[in-house]
Amino acid sequence: MVSYIVAAAILVALYILTYYNFLKGARCRSDTCLRGKTVIVTGGNAGIGKETALDMARRGARVILACRNKERAEAAVFDIRKKSGNNQVIFMQLDLASLKSVRAFAENFLKSEPQLHVLINNAGIGMHGKTADGFNLVWGVNHLGHFLLTRLLLDRLKLSAPSRIVTVASTMYRFAKIDFSNLNPPGENFSQQMQNYCCSKLSNILFVRELANCLEGTNVTCYSLHPGAVKTDIFRTLKWWMKVFCIPVIALFFRSPVDGAQTSIYCAVQEGIEKFSGRYFADCKVEEVLPHARDDAVARKLWEVSERMVGLSS
Ligand SMILES: NC(=O)c1ccc[n+]([C@@H]2O[C@H](COP(=O)([O-])OP(=O)(O)OC[C@H]3O[C@@H](n4cnc5c(N)ncnc54)[C@H](OP(=O)(O)O)[C@@H]3O)[C@@H](O)[C@H]2O)c1
Repeated sequence: MVSYIVAAAILVALYILTYYNFLKGARCRSDTCLRGKTVIVTGGNAGIGKETALDMARRGARVILACRNKERAEAAVFDIRKKSGNNQVIFMQLDLASLKSVRAFAENFLKSEPQLHVLINNAGIGMHGKTADGFNLVWGVNHLGHFLLTRLLLDRLKLSAPSRIVTVASTMYRFAKIDFSNLNPPGENFSQQMQNYCCSKLSNILFVRELANCLEGTNVTCYSLHPGAVKTDIFRTLKWWMKVFCIPVIALFFRSPVDGAQTSIYCAVQEGIEKFSGRYFADCKVEEVLPHARDDAVARKLWEVSERMVGLSS
């Protein structure tokens, strides 16, 4: 009996050591104040986005939650206002799965908000489906919607400089390859859905890379990042048999949304990282990506193809 108790105690101690040293991730230590600054967080009503928005509100920013669902967004606005004591937290409707909605959001924002200091492209999805414009949902929401949104808000970011664009990518980019002959596969089976997700995240990284080139000399900087493996609702779409295996793993080994938000917060507020514009961050530090995620020719081509897909060029 005593040996079982000792073995259990050792296991618990090992788990705690592993969790705090390897899984929890680094914290953003910056105490930058954002009073007088305006921040947009896409998908700011849940998971990593909500914790990021809460942190921005605690720093005094005017925070716009750009979300698709009014009810969920208003509940998050209420919660964030209450926790931060900041009433400058508002909801604006944005469905990234519709280019029309992205354009309407940008128009509404530009009409009503004179400044934009931080744009956080956080919303993401791993689900099978199609956007209003016929793209696969994952590619349309994770990459194209944010591509168009960023482009439409760029002049306001330049006017408000110094300003930043933060895009939440994922380490899953490692498993992706951009196939320009088949950029928009329907994602009919699990492996194609995974490939679509990984490809959308690689596109986030390549987009930020090319964006940094376009922004040189403007005092607007941009960053992509991996938030870590985080316990959020993004896994709700897993099939039941995967959930049986994944739920205990997620519960034990994934970090909390507060911890998952740290690198987004770091990229939004940390002083002195401007020289890393265009780069990818993880655990609150810059990280070198694999060669296929720093291929400037692919990044340039992706930019041009994305422009055509969202109707920004003929
Ligand atoms: N969790 C992880 O382990 C992990 C790892 C690597 C990267 N990421 C990335 O982290 C980001 C945040 O994900 P999360 O884990 O916090 O997931 P989450 O809790 O599911 O939050 C995703 C957010 O995106 C919003 N969203 C989805 N589709 C949208 C659309 N069409 N228009 C506007 N908003 C939309 C969701 O809104 P609703 O509430 O209306 O659905 C929700 O607010 C994503 O980009 C994800 O790819 C997550």
